[in-house]
Amino acid sequence: MKLPFDGAISAFFQNKAPKSVREAILAADKDDILDPSYPYREEMKGKAYQTQMDALQIELVKMQSDLKTTGKRLVVVFEGRDAAGKGGTIGAMRENLNPRACTVVALAKPSDHEAAQWYFQRYIDWLPAKGEIALFDRSWYNRAMIEHVFGFCTPEQRAHFFAQLPDFERMLVEEGFIFRKIWLEVGQAEQLKRFLAREQDPLKQWKLSLIDIEGLAKWESYCEAVDETMERSHFTFAPWTVILSDDKKRARIAAVQTILGSVDYMGRDLAVIGTPDPLICGGPELRT
Ligand code: ADP
Ligand code: MLT
Repeated sequence: MKLPFDGAISAFFQNKAPKSVREAILAADKDDILDPSYPYREEMKGKAYQTQMDALQIELVKMQSDLKTTGKRLVVVFEGRDAAGKGGTIGAMRENLNPRACTVVALAKPSDHEAAQWYFQRYIDWLPAKGEIALFDRSWYNRAMIEHVFGFCTPEQRAHFFAQLPDFERMLVEEGFIFRKIWLEVGQAEQLKRFLAREQDPLKQWKLSLIDIEGLAKWESYCEAVDETMERSHFTFAPWTVILSDDKKRARIAAVQTILGSVDYMGRDLAVIGTPDPLICGGPELRT
Protein backbone atom coordinates (compact mmCIF):
# COMPACT_ATOMS: atom_id res chain seq x y z
CA MET A 1 0.00 0.00 0.00
CA LYS A 2 1.35 3.42 -0.92
CA LEU A 3 0.99 6.09 1.70
CA PRO A 4 -0.08 9.56 0.59
CA PHE A 5 3.16 10.92 2.03
CA ASP A 6 5.36 8.13 0.70
CA GLY A 7 9.00 9.11 0.91
CA ALA A 8 8.35 12.31 2.85
CA ILE A 9 10.49 11.26 5.79
CA SER A 10 13.48 10.38 3.60
CA ALA A 11 13.03 13.62 1.69
CA PHE A 12 13.11 15.58 4.94
CA PHE A 13 16.16 13.62 6.05
CA GLN A 14 17.99 14.39 2.77
CA ASN A 15 17.03 18.00 2.31
CA LYS A 16 15.84 19.67 5.46
CA ALA A 17 17.11 17.95 8.59
CA PRO A 18 19.72 19.91 10.56
CA LYS A 19 23.22 18.86 9.49
CA SER A 20 24.14 17.57 12.95
CA VAL A 21 21.04 15.37 13.01
CA ARG A 22 21.71 13.93 9.55
CA GLU A 23 25.34 13.24 10.35
CA ALA A 24 24.51 11.59 13.66
CA ILE A 25 22.08 9.25 11.92
CA LEU A 26 24.48 8.41 9.10
CA ALA A 27 27.34 7.70 11.50
CA ALA A 28 25.36 5.53 13.90
CA ASP A 29 25.59 1.80 14.49
CA LYS A 30 22.43 -0.09 15.35
CA ASP A 31 22.66 0.24 19.12
CA ASP A 32 24.17 3.71 19.26
CA ILE A 33 22.38 6.43 21.12
CA LEU A 34 22.42 9.49 18.93
CA ASP A 35 21.92 12.42 21.23
CA PRO A 36 25.31 13.53 22.61
CA SER A 37 23.64 14.73 25.81
CA TYR A 38 22.19 11.29 26.61
CA PRO A 39 24.02 9.82 29.62
CA TYR A 40 24.73 6.50 27.83
CA ARG A 41 26.35 5.88 24.46
CA GLU A 42 24.74 2.51 23.76
CA GLU A 43 21.35 0.98 24.31
CA MET A 44 20.82 -1.38 27.20
CA LYS A 45 21.51 -4.99 26.18
CA GLY A 46 18.48 -7.08 25.34
CA LYS A 47 19.19 -9.81 27.85
CA ALA A 48 19.72 -7.50 30.83
CA TYR A 49 16.53 -5.71 29.83
CA GLN A 50 14.50 -8.89 29.62
CA THR A 51 15.69 -10.19 32.99
CA GLN A 52 14.83 -6.95 34.75
CA MET A 53 11.55 -6.49 32.90
CA ASP A 54 10.44 -10.05 33.69
CA ALA A 55 10.88 -9.37 37.40
CA LEU A 56 9.02 -6.08 37.13
CA GLN A 57 6.15 -7.81 35.29
CA ILE A 58 5.54 -9.98 38.35
CA GLU A 59 5.30 -6.85 40.47
CA LEU A 60 2.84 -5.32 38.00
CA VAL A 61 0.64 -8.39 38.25
CA LYS A 62 0.72 -8.11 42.07
CA MET A 63 -0.15 -4.45 41.79
CA GLN A 64 -3.13 -5.12 39.56
CA SER A 65 -4.39 -7.80 41.88
CA ASP A 66 -4.15 -5.43 44.83
CA LEU A 67 -6.01 -2.70 42.95
CA LYS A 68 -8.79 -5.18 42.36
CA THR A 69 -8.96 -6.18 46.02
CA THR A 70 -8.82 -2.66 47.39
CA GLY A 71 -10.91 -1.02 44.67
CA LYS A 72 -8.28 1.60 43.97
CA ARG A 73 -8.20 3.28 40.56
CA LEU A 74 -4.98 4.06 38.69
CA VAL A 75 -4.61 6.62 35.92
CA VAL A 76 -1.34 7.07 34.08
CA VAL A 77 -0.93 9.72 31.42
CA PHE A 78 1.84 9.01 28.90
CA GLU A 79 2.91 12.04 26.95
CA GLY A 80 5.74 12.73 24.55
CA ARG A 81 6.39 13.71 20.97
CA ASP A 82 5.64 11.35 18.13
CA ALA A 83 7.86 8.27 18.31
CA ALA A 84 8.92 9.04 21.89
CA GLY A 85 7.96 5.49 22.80
CA LYS A 86 4.56 5.93 24.45
CA GLY A 87 2.98 2.98 22.70
CA GLY A 88 5.87 0.62 23.45
CA THR A 89 6.04 1.63 27.10
CA ILE A 90 2.32 1.12 27.51
CA GLY A 91 2.65 -2.25 25.78
CA ALA A 92 5.36 -3.29 28.25
CA MET A 93 3.21 -2.20 31.18
CA ARG A 94 0.18 -4.19 30.23
CA GLU A 95 1.86 -7.22 28.70
CA ASN A 96 0.86 -9.54 31.53
CA LEU A 97 -2.06 -7.65 32.99
CA ASN A 98 -5.69 -8.61 32.72
CA PRO A 99 -6.83 -6.46 29.77
CA ARG A 100 -10.36 -6.30 31.12
CA ALA A 101 -9.18 -4.17 34.02
CA CYS A 102 -6.42 -2.31 32.19
CA THR A 103 -7.57 -0.06 29.39
CA VAL A 104 -5.42 1.83 26.93
CA VAL A 105 -6.98 5.13 26.00
CA ALA A 106 -5.71 6.51 22.68
CA LEU A 107 -8.41 8.81 21.41
CA ALA A 108 -8.66 9.97 17.83
CA LYS A 109 -9.05 13.61 16.99
CA PRO A 110 -12.30 14.96 18.43
CA SER A 111 -15.45 14.39 16.36
CA ASP A 112 -17.65 17.40 15.61
CA HIS A 113 -19.82 16.42 18.54
CA GLU A 114 -16.86 16.07 20.90
CA ALA A 115 -15.38 19.33 19.69
CA ALA A 116 -18.63 20.98 20.77
CA GLN A 117 -18.34 19.56 24.31
CA TRP A 118 -16.35 20.76 27.33
CA TYR A 119 -12.74 19.93 26.41
CA PHE A 120 -12.15 17.54 29.33
CA GLN A 121 -15.46 15.75 28.88
CA ARG A 122 -14.49 12.92 26.56
CA TYR A 123 -11.47 12.06 28.68
CA ILE A 124 -13.63 11.77 31.79
CA ASP A 125 -15.63 9.04 30.06
CA TRP A 126 -12.47 6.91 30.02
CA LEU A 127 -11.40 7.26 33.64
CA PRO A 128 -11.17 3.89 35.40
CA ALA A 129 -13.74 2.45 37.80
CA LYS A 130 -12.79 0.74 41.05
CA GLY A 131 -10.04 -1.83 40.66
CA GLU A 132 -9.19 -0.66 37.15
CA ILE A 133 -6.20 0.91 35.40
CA ALA A 134 -6.40 3.41 32.55
CA LEU A 135 -3.24 4.10 30.55
CA PHE A 136 -3.59 7.24 28.43
CA ASP A 137 -1.56 7.27 25.20
CA ARG A 138 -1.78 11.05 24.85
CA SER A 139 -4.39 12.86 26.85
CA TRP A 140 -5.97 16.22 27.56
CA TYR A 141 -2.40 17.58 27.22
CA ASN A 142 -2.98 17.56 23.45
CA ARG A 143 -4.45 21.01 23.86
CA ALA A 144 -1.32 22.33 25.54
CA MET A 145 1.05 20.97 22.94
CA ILE A 146 0.05 19.29 19.68
CA GLU A 147 -3.17 21.24 19.13
CA HIS A 148 -1.31 24.45 19.83
CA VAL A 149 1.66 23.70 17.58
CA PHE A 150 -0.60 22.63 14.71
CA GLY A 151 -3.14 25.38 15.19
CA PHE A 152 -5.99 22.98 16.01
CA CYS A 153 -7.06 25.20 18.91
CA THR A 154 -7.17 28.95 19.39
CA PRO A 155 -4.90 30.75 21.87
CA GLU A 156 -8.02 31.48 23.91
CA GLN A 157 -8.97 27.80 24.06
CA ARG A 158 -5.47 26.94 25.23
CA ALA A 159 -5.48 29.66 27.88
CA HIS A 160 -8.84 28.38 29.10
CA PHE A 161 -7.41 24.87 29.26
CA PHE A 162 -4.47 25.98 31.41
CA ALA A 163 -6.82 27.92 33.66
CA GLN A 164 -8.97 24.85 34.30
CA LEU A 165 -6.18 22.27 34.39
CA PRO A 166 -5.06 22.61 38.06
CA ASP A 167 -8.61 22.24 39.33
CA PHE A 168 -9.31 19.34 37.00
CA GLU A 169 -6.26 17.38 38.11
CA ARG A 170 -6.74 18.31 41.77
CA MET A 171 -10.23 16.88 41.55
CA LEU A 172 -8.87 13.60 40.19
CA VAL A 173 -6.48 13.36 43.12
CA GLU A 174 -9.10 14.37 45.70
CA GLU A 175 -11.49 11.86 44.23
CA GLY A 176 -8.93 9.19 45.08
CA PHE A 177 -7.52 8.32 41.68
CA ILE A 178 -3.87 7.36 41.86
CA PHE A 179 -2.74 9.73 39.15
CA ARG A 180 0.68 9.74 37.48
CA LYS A 181 2.02 11.74 34.54
CA ILE A 182 4.96 10.51 32.50
CA TRP A 183 6.74 12.58 29.86
CA LEU A 184 8.94 10.60 27.47
CA GLU A 185 11.63 12.85 26.04
CA VAL A 186 13.07 11.86 22.67
CA GLY A 187 15.89 13.69 20.90
CA GLN A 188 15.54 15.04 17.37
CA ALA A 189 17.99 12.61 15.73
CA GLU A 190 16.45 9.60 17.47
CA GLN A 191 12.96 10.68 16.48
CA LEU A 192 13.96 11.03 12.84
CA LYS A 193 15.73 7.67 12.94
CA ARG A 194 12.55 6.04 14.25
CA PHE A 195 10.46 7.74 11.57
CA LEU A 196 12.85 6.53 8.86
CA ALA A 197 12.54 3.00 10.22
CA ARG A 198 8.76 3.25 10.21
CA GLU A 199 8.77 4.47 6.64
CA GLN A 200 10.69 1.33 5.64
CA ASP A 201 8.69 -1.17 7.67
CA PRO A 202 5.28 -2.32 6.39
CA LEU A 203 4.39 -3.36 9.94
CA LYS A 204 5.09 0.07 11.31
CA GLN A 205 3.89 2.37 8.56
CA TRP A 206 0.50 2.72 10.23
CA LYS A 207 2.22 4.62 13.01
CA LEU A 208 3.11 7.43 10.62
CA SER A 209 0.64 10.20 10.03
CA LEU A 210 0.54 13.56 8.32
CA ILE A 211 1.04 15.07 11.77
CA ASP A 212 4.40 13.33 12.01
CA ILE A 213 5.49 14.59 8.60
CA GLU A 214 4.41 18.15 9.24
CA GLY A 215 5.78 17.97 12.76
CA LEU A 216 9.30 17.41 11.44
CA ALA A 217 9.52 21.06 10.53
CA LYS A 218 8.01 22.16 13.83
CA TRP A 219 10.62 20.80 16.24
CA GLU A 220 11.41 24.22 17.73
CA SER A 221 7.87 25.38 18.27
CA TYR A 222 7.11 22.03 19.85
CA CYS A 223 10.04 22.58 22.25
CA GLU A 224 8.52 25.87 23.36
CA ALA A 225 5.11 24.31 23.86
CA VAL A 226 6.58 21.50 25.97
CA ASP A 227 8.68 23.89 28.08
CA GLU A 228 5.65 26.00 28.83
CA THR A 229 3.50 22.97 29.57
CA MET A 230 6.01 21.57 32.04
CA GLU A 231 6.23 24.93 33.75
CA ARG A 232 2.50 25.30 34.04
CA SER A 233 1.48 21.77 34.96
CA HIS A 234 4.18 20.39 37.28
CA PHE A 235 1.85 20.56 40.30
CA THR A 236 2.86 19.35 43.75
CA PHE A 237 -0.29 17.19 43.80
CA ALA A 238 0.28 15.96 40.23
CA PRO A 239 3.94 16.26 39.24
CA TRP A 240 5.53 15.11 36.00
CA THR A 241 8.05 12.31 35.81
CA VAL A 242 10.36 12.96 32.88
CA ILE A 243 12.13 9.99 31.28
CA LEU A 244 14.81 10.39 28.62
CA SER A 245 13.72 7.82 26.06
CA ASP A 246 16.38 7.74 23.34
CA ASP A 247 17.08 4.32 24.80
CA LYS A 248 13.67 2.63 24.66
CA LYS A 249 14.64 -0.20 26.96
CA ARG A 250 16.01 1.94 29.76
CA ALA A 251 12.99 4.20 29.39
CA ARG A 252 10.48 1.34 29.69
CA ILE A 253 12.20 0.01 32.79
CA ALA A 254 12.25 3.46 34.39
CA ALA A 255 8.57 4.02 33.58
CA VAL A 256 7.48 0.74 35.13
CA GLN A 257 9.69 1.35 38.18
CA THR A 258 8.16 4.80 38.56
CA ILE A 259 4.64 3.41 38.66
CA LEU A 260 5.45 0.46 40.92
CA GLY A 261 7.50 2.61 43.28
CA SER A 262 4.69 5.09 43.73
CA VAL A 263 1.73 2.75 44.22
CA ASP A 264 1.40 1.04 47.57
CA TYR A 265 0.26 -2.57 47.07
CA MET A 266 0.27 -5.76 49.03
CA GLY A 267 3.46 -7.80 48.71
CA ARG A 268 5.37 -5.02 47.04
CA ASP A 269 9.04 -5.95 46.75
CA LEU A 270 11.03 -2.74 46.75
CA ALA A 271 14.27 -4.64 46.23
CA VAL A 272 12.95 -6.02 42.94
CA ILE A 273 11.56 -2.69 41.84
CA GLY A 274 14.72 -0.74 42.61
CA THR A 275 15.09 2.97 41.97
CA PRO A 276 14.61 4.48 38.52
CA ASP A 277 17.97 5.53 37.07
CA PRO A 278 18.33 9.20 38.10
CA LEU A 279 20.42 9.89 34.99
CA ILE A 280 17.38 9.32 32.75
CA CYS A 281 14.44 9.69 35.12
CA GLY A 282 13.50 12.70 37.21
CA GLY A 283 11.53 15.92 37.08
CA PRO A 284 11.16 18.48 34.26
CA GLU A 285 14.67 19.82 35.01
CA LEU A 286 16.00 16.69 33.28
CA ARG A 287 14.93 18.07 29.90
CA THR A 288 17.25 21.05 29.96
P1 ADP B 1 -0.36 9.37 17.31
O1 ADP B 1 -1.07 9.58 18.60
O2 ADP B 1 -0.41 7.97 16.83
O3 ADP B 1 1.01 9.97 17.30
P2 ADP B 1 -1.00 11.43 15.31
O4 ADP B 1 0.45 11.74 15.26
O5 ADP B 1 -1.71 11.22 14.03
O6 ADP B 1 -1.27 10.15 16.22
O7 ADP B 1 -1.80 12.55 16.05
C1 ADP B 1 -1.34 13.07 17.24
C2 ADP B 1 -2.49 13.58 18.09
O8 ADP B 1 -3.07 14.72 17.48
C3 ADP B 1 -3.59 12.55 18.29
O9 ADP B 1 -3.92 12.51 19.67
C4 ADP B 1 -4.74 13.10 17.47
O10 ADP B 1 -5.98 12.80 18.06
C5 ADP B 1 -4.47 14.60 17.50
N1 ADP B 1 -5.05 15.28 16.35
C6 ADP B 1 -4.83 14.98 15.05
N2 ADP B 1 -5.53 15.83 14.25
C7 ADP B 1 -6.21 16.66 15.07
C8 ADP B 1 -7.12 17.77 14.87
N3 ADP B 1 -7.48 18.17 13.66
N4 ADP B 1 -7.62 18.37 15.98
C9 ADP B 1 -7.27 17.97 17.22
N5 ADP B 1 -6.43 16.95 17.46
C10 ADP B 1 -5.90 16.31 16.42
C1 MLT C 1 5.12 6.72 20.40
O1 MLT C 1 5.90 5.88 19.93
O2 MLT C 1 5.46 7.58 21.20
C2 MLT C 1 3.66 6.69 19.99
O3 MLT C 1 2.97 5.87 20.82
C3 MLT C 1 3.47 6.31 18.56
C4 MLT C 1 3.68 7.47 17.63
O4 MLT C 1 4.62 8.22 17.81
O5 MLT C 1 2.93 7.63 16.66
